[in-house]
Amino acid sequence: MPSPYHIAMFAPAPNIALPDANATFLMLLRWIHFLAGITWIGLLYFFNLVNVPFMKELDAPTKGKVIPSLMPRALWWFRWAAVVTVVAGLAYWGNIVGADAHNGGGSPGAVMGRFFLIWTIVWAILYACLIPGKGVLDKGPVLAAIYAVVIVIAAWLFLCWNNHGWESNRLLSIGIGGGISWMMMLNVWGVIWRIQKRLILWTRDNATNGTPIPEKSKAMARMAFLTSRANAFFSIPMLFFMGAASHYPMFGK
Ligand code: HEM
Repeated sequence: MPSPYHIAMFAPAPNIALPDANATFLMLLRWIHFLAGITWIGLLYFFNLVNVPFMKELDAPTKGKVIPSLMPRALWWFRWAAVVTVVAGLAYWGNIVGADAHNGGGSPGAVMGRFFLIWTIVWAILYACLIPGKGVLDKGPVLAAIYAVVIVIAAWLFLCWNNHGWESNRLLSIGIGGGISWMMMLNVWGVIWRIQKRLILWTRDNATNGTPIPEKSKAMARMAFLTSRANAFFSIPMLFFMGAASHYPMFGK
């Protein structure tokens, strides 16, 4: 067996040449983006695919033990991973938008402005659909159909509004995928965490000193469930557009 010395003697030294500082910074952003994104979406799938069916099998005393211990920890990583994913993603995207706008004589601020305007309004429309919490707007398939139509219209609007010939496939793909993810993050902080932290407190108080859990907790739990389900479905087109950015040039350049 040749010793490492002999291997080193005969094997050509690997050619390692680190790219420049800007490329290294972007790679760091991308790395943080992946790590935080996997943590966020991984926990989202855990909640939807494992935790919801698991909780249905537990009786109230067991829930009183499990929920106050499991959920605060899981929701802490969930909501902060969402923030880190989005901030790293936006910083990375800002670099792409800046380069495209510079080359095309456009305004990066206008692209970002349209991004936040469109996708925040979409989030508000989808949230408004959840507020009644009864009748057809309490049916998953109906909400899914409404959500799909609204998001397709928003994506189309983003493409039409950013169609000056200099926008790259990376800018446009992330403009849609990142927009969906921006809404998902607003759902995490604006709906899921806001509701779950109260449900955890009520469950804990009920388990420790028998305080009855308020009746309204049922409607709140339903809203958090529907929002989490919606986020799980949103993650599918979101990840498509993340991957399409550099690998599937469907939006021209
Ligand atoms: C506002 C939210 C987000 C923004 C602004 C954003 C932005 C970006 C940008 C600019 C890229 C690089 C694209 C390229 O190199 O052409 C990217 C890639 C990627 N993003 Fe995001 N992202 C967001 C959310 C997410 C989320 C939630 C995930 C979940 C895991 C995610 C996963 C990925 C992956 C896997 C890639 C790599 C694609 C590839 O190189 O093939 N992103 N994202």
